[in-house]
Amino acid sequence: MVWHHYKEFVKGLLKMAYTQDELKQQVAKAAVEYVKEGIIGVGTGSTANYFIEELAKVKHKIDGAVASSEVTAQRLRGHGIEVFDLNNIDGMDIYVDGADEITEHMHMLKGGGGALTREKIVAAVAKTFICICDESKYVPVLGKFPLPVEVLPMARSQVARALVKMGGQPVLRDFTTDNGNIILDVHNLKIDDPVKMEADINQIVGVVTNGLFAARPANILLLATADGVKTFKK
Ligand code: 5RP
Repeated sequence: MVWHHYKEFVKGLLKMAYTQDELKQQVAKAAVEYVKEGIIGVGTGSTANYFIEELAKVKHKIDGAVASSEVTAQRLRGHGIEVFDLNNIDGMDIYVDGADEITEHMHMLKGGGGALTREKIVAAVAKTFICICDESKYVPVLGKFPLPVEVLPMARSQVARALVKMGGQPVLRDFTTDNGNIILDVHNLKIDDPVKMEADINQIVGVVTNGLFAARPANILLLATADGVKTFKK
């Protein structure tokens, strides 16, 4: 009995020992197991950066990658991985990326790093979207994290007014996207129906795209927890 309690105590200590970065590293390692051959779609952000490090270790297996941002392209090239133009390839098996929030329905809220539009385009081409997250990103409902919306600069005020009408509070981010546009981070939206809200926001004239990834959800979620990496499939 005493031994049992001791083991539980040590297990508890080990669980607490992981930092968020360590969890991100673990989930990146788990994702690279899905890399077989061909061209890999690669996302943007700190979790994706850990994935790039793991991808570099198996780069002999692949032809190269498609990047969802200039930053990711630079990192990939820095590791000696060839970066392909999306227009020059027919398709790809997997796209691996993080998220700011994800639900049990595999709906995601993304764009914290401002790369949402290119992320959505590369994800659309991939057969399988593998979302890699630490457990802090797994939420019952999307929207605690402000929703990024990429907007053409001249449409800023018009789009902001429309977003206010939808119940949100848009805040201009001090940032220019890889596409030369602005980002409005929308606070306090009630996202009960992510598929509908994704479509509704995309209908506002001047919006390039928004950070809801619900119409095309993730196919596989690799979630790093204190008990190890858990796999969910849609
Ligand atoms: C970038 C994104 C990222 O996937 C998201 O912000 C998560 O980033 P991180 O892995 O650093 O927590 O959508 O546009």
